Amino acid sequence: MNVLKSVKYPGFTRDIVSFGLVKSVNIDNGEVKVQLALATNDPNVPATIKNDAEKALRAIDGVRSAKVLIDIHAPPTGAGAGVGAARIPGIKHVIAVASGKGGVGKSTVAANLAVALEQTDTRVGLCDCDIYGPSISLMFGTRERPMATEENKIVPIEQYGLRLMSMGFLLDDTSPAILRGPMVTRYTQPPGTGDIQLTIVQTVALAGAIIVTTPQEVALIDARKAATMFDKVNVPVLGLIENMSYFVSPSDGKRYDIFGSGGGEREAKRLRVPLLGQIPIDIATREASDRGMPIVGEDRQSPVTAEFKKIAETLRKTLP
Ligand SMILES: Nc1ncnc2c1ncn2[C@@H]1O[C@H](COP(=O)(O)OP(=O)(O)OP(=O)(O)O)[C@@H](O)[C@H]1O
Ligand SMILES: [Mg+2]
Repeated sequence: MNVLKSVKYPGFTRDIVSFGLVKSVNIDNGEVKVQLALATNDPNVPATIKNDAEKALRAIDGVRSAKVLIDIHAPPTGAGAGVGAARIPGIKHVIAVASGKGGVGKSTVAANLAVALEQTDTRVGLCDCDIYGPSISLMFGTRERPMATEENKIVPIEQYGLRLMSMGFLLDDTSPAILRGPMVTRYTQPPGTGDIQLTIVQTVALAGAIIVTTPQEVALIDARKAATMFDKVNVPVLGLIENMSYFVSPSDGKRYDIFGSGGGEREAKRLRVPLLGQIPIDIATREASDRGMPIVGEDRQSPVTAEFKKIAETLRKTLP
């Protein structure tokens, strides 16, 4: 097992043991047989793993032969996550909202999209996986404390018809005790990794991912990386959302392309995914977030609301 820990999943810094791919190891008189299981459509992945693992095993003193057998499953269609991810009972679709870069509007998009989806008669929960700078509690204007059940489960907060969970509900000065015990390690130290995005795709079967980007090149490069990451683990990228696309001056109605224009569209084409929407830089949107009510829930007339509604409709069609 120790030697197998040196075998990386192709394209990742994580190894095949920490990904949970090793099902059994049999050693008989210097002959090693290893059984792996993985879900992928890419024939290069098992080939590379087999080769690397056998080579590593044969290098061990006393090993006369090493054989690595791999059970390959096709990744569940439309509910990707290549490696050992589980469905959440009672939840039909889990959508990841991600970006390759900080500050591009993930939280804003996630919050408004959740409200927009809820308004299409869907029951929606929003889990803020940002443990370092959780902002969903702020954006929904509640510091209510989630209750724990006797089975040690956390009951989400309900706000504006949505179920919410965020580290922001747990972290404050008044009651740090709630963070003791296994919860801290579970939330902050996913086993065997520092890479949160990867841990999420590994833990939960995602229906797909939405990548948030701003239009300029430095953001698009990182959006591309994020999309590639999801692709590698067989999570379909449902599309890009270009945030801070443009600014319409309230004084003269003139449009300014502060971060340039067309970037999201070009990148979506390049990645062969839809551009789900373009959200302008909008003062009311920022103010609403700071006030604790996503703009979609507050202002039906806002162009930002209209854009999020359009995105929600598209998602409803994509994920029936
Ligand atoms: N379309 C927009 N118009 C105006 N302000 C916006 C818009 N999108 C986001 N903002 C503001 O920009 C700031 C950063 O947005 P947000 O917190 O959603 O980004 P993030 O990607 O979640 O950041 P982090 O990486 O730090 O978690 C916030 O103050 C938010 O209110
Ligand atoms: Mg955020």
